[in-house]
Amino acid sequence: MTPTDGGTPRQPPAAAPGAYGKAVFQPGRAGEDERIDLGALAYDDITVARLRSLGAGPGWNCLDVGAGTGSVARRLLGELGVAGVLAVDRDTRFLAAHPQPGLDLLEADLADPDFDPGRFHLVHARFVLMHLPTRRKVMARLSELLLPGGVLVLGDAVDPTSDTAPPSPYTRAVQAMWQGLHDTIGTDVSWTPRYPQMLHDLGLDAVAAEIHVPPLVPGSAISRFWADTWDRAREAMTATGLVDDADVDAAIRYLDSPDCAALSPGLITAWGRRPGGAETGPA
Ligand SMILES: C[S@@+](CC[C@H](N)C(=O)[O-])C[C@H]1O[C@@H](n2cnc3c(N)ncnc32)[C@H](O)[C@@H]1O
Repeated sequence: MTPTDGGTPRQPPAAAPGAYGKAVFQPGRAGEDERIDLGALAYDDITVARLRSLGAGPGWNCLDVGAGTGSVARRLLGELGVAGVLAVDRDTRFLAAHPQPGLDLLEADLADPDFDPGRFHLVHARFVLMHLPTRRKVMARLSELLLPGGVLVLGDAVDPTSDTAPPSPYTRAVQAMWQGLHDTIGTDVSWTPRYPQMLHDLGLDAVAAEIHVPPLVPGSAISRFWADTWDRAREAMTATGLVDDADVDAAIRYLDSPDCAALSPGLITAWGRRPGGAETGPA
Protein backbone atom coordinates (compact mmCIF):
# COMPACT_ATOMS: atom_id res chain seq x y z
CA MET A 1 0.00 0.00 0.00
CA THR A 2 1.02 3.56 -0.40
CA PRO A 3 2.01 5.45 2.76
CA THR A 4 -1.38 7.19 2.68
CA ASP A 5 -3.20 3.88 2.70
CA GLY A 6 -1.90 2.22 5.84
CA GLY A 7 1.84 1.93 5.15
CA THR A 8 1.66 -1.84 4.69
CA PRO A 9 4.60 -4.01 3.71
CA ARG A 10 2.83 -5.36 0.63
CA GLN A 11 3.01 -3.61 -2.71
CA PRO A 12 -0.34 -2.70 -4.28
CA PRO A 13 -1.33 -4.51 -7.43
CA ALA A 14 -0.32 -2.44 -10.46
CA ALA A 15 -4.03 -2.05 -11.12
CA ALA A 16 -6.40 -4.29 -9.18
CA PRO A 17 -8.50 -5.38 -12.12
CA GLY A 18 -11.64 -6.12 -10.18
CA ALA A 19 -13.68 -5.53 -7.07
CA TYR A 20 -15.22 -7.79 -4.47
CA GLY A 21 -18.37 -9.32 -5.93
CA LYS A 22 -17.28 -8.68 -9.49
CA ALA A 23 -13.92 -10.38 -10.03
CA VAL A 24 -14.46 -12.91 -7.24
CA PHE A 25 -17.16 -13.94 -4.74
CA GLN A 26 -19.91 -12.94 -7.17
CA PRO A 27 -23.25 -12.87 -5.31
CA GLY A 28 -25.00 -14.31 -8.36
CA ARG A 29 -22.97 -17.53 -8.21
CA ALA A 30 -25.01 -20.25 -6.51
CA GLY A 31 -24.12 -20.83 -2.87
CA GLU A 32 -22.30 -17.52 -2.19
CA ASP A 33 -24.80 -16.73 0.60
CA GLU A 34 -24.07 -20.13 2.15
CA ARG A 35 -20.32 -19.42 2.05
CA ILE A 36 -20.86 -16.11 3.87
CA ASP A 37 -23.06 -17.89 6.40
CA LEU A 38 -20.33 -20.45 7.12
CA GLY A 39 -18.04 -17.57 8.10
CA ALA A 40 -20.87 -16.13 10.16
CA LEU A 41 -21.38 -19.46 11.94
CA ALA A 42 -17.70 -19.51 12.83
CA TYR A 43 -17.60 -15.95 14.18
CA ASP A 44 -21.03 -14.54 15.03
CA ASP A 45 -21.01 -15.64 18.68
CA ILE A 46 -17.68 -13.85 19.23
CA THR A 47 -18.85 -10.73 17.39
CA VAL A 48 -22.22 -10.53 19.13
CA ALA A 49 -20.65 -11.06 22.57
CA ARG A 50 -18.25 -8.19 21.89
CA LEU A 51 -21.01 -5.90 20.63
CA ARG A 52 -23.07 -6.70 23.72
CA SER A 53 -20.15 -5.94 26.04
CA LEU A 54 -19.62 -2.63 24.25
CA GLY A 55 -23.17 -1.70 25.19
CA ALA A 56 -25.22 -2.51 22.10
CA GLY A 57 -28.80 -2.85 23.29
CA PRO A 58 -32.14 -1.10 23.54
CA GLY A 59 -32.17 2.43 22.17
CA TRP A 60 -29.16 1.94 19.90
CA ASN A 61 -29.30 2.74 16.21
CA CYS A 62 -26.74 0.64 14.41
CA LEU A 63 -25.02 0.57 11.04
CA ASP A 64 -23.64 -2.71 9.69
CA VAL A 65 -21.61 -2.14 6.53
CA GLY A 66 -20.81 -4.90 4.08
CA ALA A 67 -23.54 -6.75 5.94
CA GLY A 68 -23.50 -9.85 3.72
CA THR A 69 -26.46 -12.05 4.61
CA GLY A 70 -27.32 -9.93 7.66
CA SER A 71 -26.56 -12.46 10.38
CA VAL A 72 -25.02 -9.87 12.72
CA ALA A 73 -27.74 -7.32 11.98
CA ARG A 74 -30.44 -9.87 12.84
CA ARG A 75 -28.79 -10.84 16.13
CA LEU A 76 -28.38 -7.18 17.06
CA LEU A 77 -32.14 -6.81 16.65
CA GLY A 78 -33.26 -10.16 18.01
CA GLU A 79 -30.87 -10.90 20.86
CA LEU A 80 -29.55 -7.50 21.86
CA GLY A 81 -32.81 -5.64 21.23
CA VAL A 82 -31.31 -2.63 19.50
CA ALA A 83 -33.73 -0.02 18.15
CA GLY A 84 -32.77 -0.45 14.52
CA VAL A 85 -30.08 -1.60 12.12
CA LEU A 86 -29.26 -0.12 8.75
CA ALA A 87 -27.55 -2.88 6.78
CA VAL A 88 -25.47 -1.63 3.86
CA ASP A 89 -24.00 -3.71 1.08
CA ARG A 90 -22.97 -3.20 -2.52
CA ASP A 91 -25.45 -6.00 -3.27
CA THR A 92 -28.41 -6.41 -0.91
CA ARG A 93 -30.01 -9.51 -2.47
CA PHE A 94 -29.11 -11.75 0.50
CA LEU A 95 -30.34 -9.16 3.00
CA ALA A 96 -33.59 -8.62 1.12
CA ALA A 97 -34.31 -12.36 1.16
CA HIS A 98 -35.07 -12.25 4.91
CA PRO A 99 -36.88 -9.05 5.90
CA GLN A 100 -37.14 -8.34 9.63
CA PRO A 101 -38.80 -5.50 11.58
CA GLY A 102 -36.18 -2.88 12.47
CA LEU A 103 -33.86 -3.94 9.64
CA ASP A 104 -33.45 -1.33 6.92
CA LEU A 105 -31.40 -1.94 3.79
CA LEU A 106 -29.25 0.36 1.72
CA GLU A 107 -27.50 -0.72 -1.46
CA ALA A 108 -24.38 1.42 -1.63
CA ASP A 109 -20.66 1.29 -2.23
CA LEU A 110 -18.65 2.12 0.89
CA ALA A 111 -15.90 3.54 -1.25
CA ASP A 112 -18.26 6.19 -2.64
CA PRO A 113 -17.05 9.51 -1.18
CA ASP A 114 -20.70 10.62 -0.90
CA PHE A 115 -21.62 7.67 1.34
CA ASP A 116 -23.48 9.36 4.21
CA PRO A 117 -26.21 7.17 5.72
CA GLY A 118 -26.63 9.12 8.98
CA ARG A 119 -25.20 8.96 12.51
CA PHE A 120 -25.20 5.88 14.73
CA HIS A 121 -24.46 4.55 18.22
CA LEU A 122 -22.70 1.59 16.60
CA VAL A 123 -20.91 1.31 13.28
CA HIS A 124 -19.77 -2.24 12.52
CA ALA A 125 -17.87 -3.75 9.59
CA ARG A 126 -16.62 -7.33 9.47
CA PHE A 127 -14.53 -8.91 6.69
CA VAL A 128 -15.05 -5.86 4.48
CA LEU A 129 -12.27 -3.27 4.85
CA MET A 130 -9.60 -5.89 4.17
CA HIS A 131 -11.02 -6.18 0.65
CA LEU A 132 -11.12 -2.43 -0.09
CA PRO A 133 -8.00 -0.76 -1.53
CA THR A 134 -9.28 2.57 -0.13
CA ARG A 135 -9.69 1.04 3.33
CA ARG A 136 -7.98 3.84 5.21
CA LYS A 137 -10.31 6.47 3.78
CA VAL A 138 -13.32 4.23 4.39
CA MET A 139 -12.26 3.68 8.00
CA ALA A 140 -12.04 7.44 8.52
CA ARG A 141 -15.45 7.89 6.92
CA LEU A 142 -16.98 5.24 9.17
CA SER A 143 -15.59 6.97 12.26
CA GLU A 144 -17.36 10.17 11.16
CA LEU A 145 -20.69 8.32 11.18
CA LEU A 146 -20.59 7.84 14.96
CA LEU A 147 -22.76 9.82 17.32
CA PRO A 148 -20.78 11.29 20.20
CA GLY A 149 -20.08 8.35 22.52
CA GLY A 150 -20.77 5.88 19.70
CA VAL A 151 -18.47 2.96 18.98
CA LEU A 152 -16.79 1.83 15.77
CA VAL A 153 -16.15 -1.94 15.67
CA LEU A 154 -14.01 -3.37 12.88
CA GLY A 155 -13.42 -7.04 12.28
CA ASP A 156 -11.12 -8.46 9.64
CA ALA A 157 -8.91 -11.44 9.00
CA VAL A 158 -5.62 -11.82 10.76
CA ASP A 159 -3.16 -14.51 9.76
CA PRO A 160 -0.45 -15.22 12.30
CA THR A 161 1.15 -18.20 10.57
CA SER A 162 1.00 -18.37 6.81
CA ASP A 163 4.35 -16.60 6.29
CA THR A 164 6.20 -18.86 8.72
CA ALA A 165 4.35 -22.18 8.82
CA PRO A 166 6.15 -25.21 7.33
CA PRO A 167 5.30 -25.67 3.63
CA SER A 168 2.25 -27.87 3.07
CA PRO A 169 -0.67 -27.87 0.63
CA TYR A 170 -2.68 -26.02 3.30
CA THR A 171 -0.07 -23.33 3.89
CA ARG A 172 0.47 -22.80 0.18
CA ALA A 173 -3.28 -22.48 -0.34
CA VAL A 174 -3.56 -19.83 2.38
CA GLN A 175 -0.63 -17.89 0.92
CA ALA A 176 -2.01 -18.20 -2.62
CA MET A 177 -5.43 -17.04 -1.42
CA TRP A 178 -4.07 -13.84 0.12
CA GLN A 179 -1.78 -13.17 -2.84
CA GLY A 180 -4.47 -13.99 -5.41
CA LEU A 181 -7.11 -11.82 -3.74
CA HIS A 182 -4.56 -9.04 -3.42
CA ASP A 183 -3.68 -9.20 -7.11
CA THR A 184 -7.34 -9.48 -8.17
CA ILE A 185 -9.25 -7.05 -5.94
CA GLY A 186 -6.66 -5.44 -3.67
CA THR A 187 -7.34 -7.47 -0.51
CA ASP A 188 -4.66 -6.97 2.14
CA VAL A 189 -4.69 -8.48 5.63
CA SER A 190 -1.05 -7.66 6.38
CA TRP A 191 -1.97 -4.42 8.09
CA THR A 192 -4.99 -5.55 10.16
CA PRO A 193 -2.93 -5.83 13.38
CA ARG A 194 -2.56 -2.04 13.06
CA TYR A 195 -6.27 -1.45 13.53
CA PRO A 196 -5.97 -0.36 17.16
CA GLN A 197 -3.35 2.28 16.36
CA MET A 198 -5.31 3.44 13.31
CA LEU A 199 -8.49 3.85 15.38
CA HIS A 200 -6.51 5.77 17.98
CA ASP A 201 -5.05 7.99 15.25
CA LEU A 202 -8.60 8.77 14.08
CA GLY A 203 -9.22 10.35 17.49
CA LEU A 204 -11.26 7.53 19.00
CA ASP A 205 -11.09 6.76 22.74
CA ALA A 206 -11.00 3.53 24.71
CA VAL A 207 -9.41 1.67 21.82
CA ALA A 208 -8.84 -2.06 22.29
CA ALA A 209 -8.76 -5.26 20.25
CA GLU A 210 -8.97 -9.04 20.47
CA ILE A 211 -8.24 -12.00 18.23
CA HIS A 212 -10.24 -15.20 17.89
CA VAL A 213 -8.93 -18.17 15.91
CA PRO A 214 -11.51 -20.93 15.42
CA PRO A 215 -10.16 -24.51 15.48
CA LEU A 216 -9.81 -26.22 12.10
CA VAL A 217 -11.84 -29.31 12.98
CA PRO A 218 -12.91 -31.37 9.95
CA GLY A 219 -16.53 -30.60 9.12
CA SER A 220 -16.55 -27.39 11.18
CA ALA A 221 -18.00 -24.19 9.81
CA ILE A 222 -14.57 -22.60 9.45
CA SER A 223 -13.09 -25.61 7.62
CA ARG A 224 -16.05 -25.67 5.22
CA PHE A 225 -15.75 -21.90 4.80
CA TRP A 226 -12.11 -22.14 3.68
CA ALA A 227 -12.84 -25.09 1.38
CA ASP A 228 -15.64 -23.19 -0.34
CA THR A 229 -13.63 -19.95 -0.42
CA TRP A 230 -10.71 -21.70 -2.14
CA ASP A 231 -13.01 -23.32 -4.64
CA ARG A 232 -14.48 -19.92 -5.52
CA ALA A 233 -11.13 -18.09 -5.51
CA ARG A 234 -9.40 -20.90 -7.41
CA GLU A 235 -8.73 -18.82 -10.53
CA ALA A 236 -7.15 -15.98 -8.53
CA MET A 237 -5.11 -18.48 -6.51
CA THR A 238 -3.72 -20.44 -9.45
CA ALA A 239 -2.92 -17.21 -11.32
CA THR A 240 -0.31 -16.44 -8.64
CA GLY A 241 1.77 -19.44 -9.73
CA LEU A 242 2.02 -20.48 -6.07
CA VAL A 243 -0.48 -23.33 -6.51
CA ASP A 244 -2.14 -25.26 -9.30
CA ASP A 245 -5.57 -26.89 -9.38
CA ALA A 246 -4.23 -30.12 -7.90
CA ASP A 247 -2.70 -28.20 -4.97
CA VAL A 248 -6.02 -26.46 -4.28
CA ASP A 249 -7.81 -29.81 -4.37
CA ALA A 250 -5.21 -31.30 -1.99
CA ALA A 251 -5.60 -28.40 0.42
CA ILE A 252 -9.40 -28.76 0.38
CA ARG A 253 -9.07 -32.52 1.07
CA TYR A 254 -6.62 -31.83 3.90
CA LEU A 255 -9.15 -29.59 5.65
CA ASP A 256 -11.57 -32.52 5.80
CA SER A 257 -9.03 -35.16 6.78
CA PRO A 258 -7.98 -36.53 10.17
CA ASP A 259 -4.42 -35.35 9.31
CA CYS A 260 -5.50 -31.71 9.51
CA ALA A 261 -3.33 -30.07 12.16
CA ALA A 262 -3.05 -26.43 11.10
CA LEU A 263 -3.91 -23.02 12.48
CA SER A 264 -6.64 -21.08 10.68
CA PRO A 265 -6.45 -17.40 9.94
CA GLY A 266 -8.62 -15.71 12.56
CA LEU A 267 -10.73 -12.66 13.26
CA ILE A 268 -9.24 -9.52 14.74
CA THR A 269 -11.88 -7.24 16.24
CA ALA A 270 -10.83 -3.71 17.15
CA TRP A 271 -12.95 -0.91 18.50
CA GLY A 272 -12.89 2.68 19.65
CA ARG A 273 -15.39 5.19 20.92
CA ARG A 274 -16.06 8.68 19.61
CA PRO A 275 -15.38 11.19 22.39
CA GLY A 276 -18.20 13.25 23.84
CA GLY A 277 -21.86 12.68 24.51
CA ALA A 278 -23.44 10.52 27.13
CA GLU A 279 -21.76 7.20 27.84
CA THR A 280 -23.64 4.76 25.62
CA GLY A 281 -22.65 1.60 27.42
CA PRO A 282 -19.89 -0.28 29.22
CA ALA A 283 -16.43 -0.30 27.61
C1 LIG B 1 -16.90 -11.46 3.31
S1 LIG B 1 -18.48 -10.72 3.19
C2 LIG B 1 -18.78 -10.33 4.91
C3 LIG B 1 -20.23 -10.26 5.25
C4 LIG B 1 -20.56 -9.96 6.70
N1 LIG B 1 -20.01 -8.68 7.12
C5 LIG B 1 -20.03 -11.06 7.59
O1 LIG B 1 -19.03 -10.87 8.28
O2 LIG B 1 -20.66 -12.14 7.58
C6 LIG B 1 -18.13 -9.09 2.52
C7 LIG B 1 -19.37 -8.29 2.23
O3 LIG B 1 -18.99 -6.95 1.96
C8 LIG B 1 -19.67 -6.51 0.80
N2 LIG B 1 -18.84 -5.49 0.13
C9 LIG B 1 -17.64 -5.69 -0.46
N3 LIG B 1 -17.18 -4.53 -0.97
C10 LIG B 1 -18.11 -3.58 -0.70
C11 LIG B 1 -18.22 -2.20 -0.99
N4 LIG B 1 -17.25 -1.56 -1.66
N5 LIG B 1 -19.32 -1.53 -0.57
C12 LIG B 1 -20.30 -2.17 0.10
N6 LIG B 1 -20.25 -3.49 0.40
C13 LIG B 1 -19.18 -4.20 -0.01
C14 LIG B 1 -19.87 -7.74 -0.04
O4 LIG B 1 -20.92 -7.59 -0.98
C15 LIG B 1 -20.15 -8.80 1.04
O5 LIG B 1 -21.52 -8.88 1.33
